[in-house]
Amino acid sequence: MFAVPAGTTATPGSLLGAHPVRVATAVAADRAAWAHLLRYDPDQRFTALVERTAEQEVWLMGWLPGQATDLHDHAGSTGAFTVVSGVLTESVARTGRTGEAVHALVAGQSRVFGPGYVHQVRNAGPDPAVSIHVYRAARPEMGHYRLDPLTGPQPV
Ligand SMILES: [Fe+2]
Repeated sequence: MFAVPAGTTATPGSLLGAHPVRVATAVAADRAAWAHLLRYDPDQRFTALVERTAEQEVWLMGWLPGQATDLHDHAGSTGAFTVVSGVLTESVARTGRTGEAVHALVAGQSRVFGPGYVHQVRNAGPDPAVSIHVYRAARPEMGHYRLDPLTGPQPV
């Protein structure tokens, strides 16, 4: 018989059962929870808070073609986002590396991030896009960066 270390098994209601991707995909599928909030803003990416608890925030975002975030991180937060419709392109920058890793995400696809993860998200497609974002902890901070071609992301 093996001794199972404490805190390494999934139990009903444990955090493992509520991975941020699972939360994001569940909210994405529950259109009644956010469809009434959705707008498109011609001046900037649209954001609306769907849900806030002590542990996490869930945001809805509406992206017209060409709209994008700047290059940023979410400080010490972890989280995930899921594309509901359209195509979003995520560019991930890493310190000490040149260039960025680029991921094109279609409806149903998700990305996960953790502390220090630096990325930019844009709607590079021809159609509007919708996405659901989960942040832990609630009220996350953001850091902003510029991309140095030799050393990677640098705080601004
Ligand atoms: Fe982000």
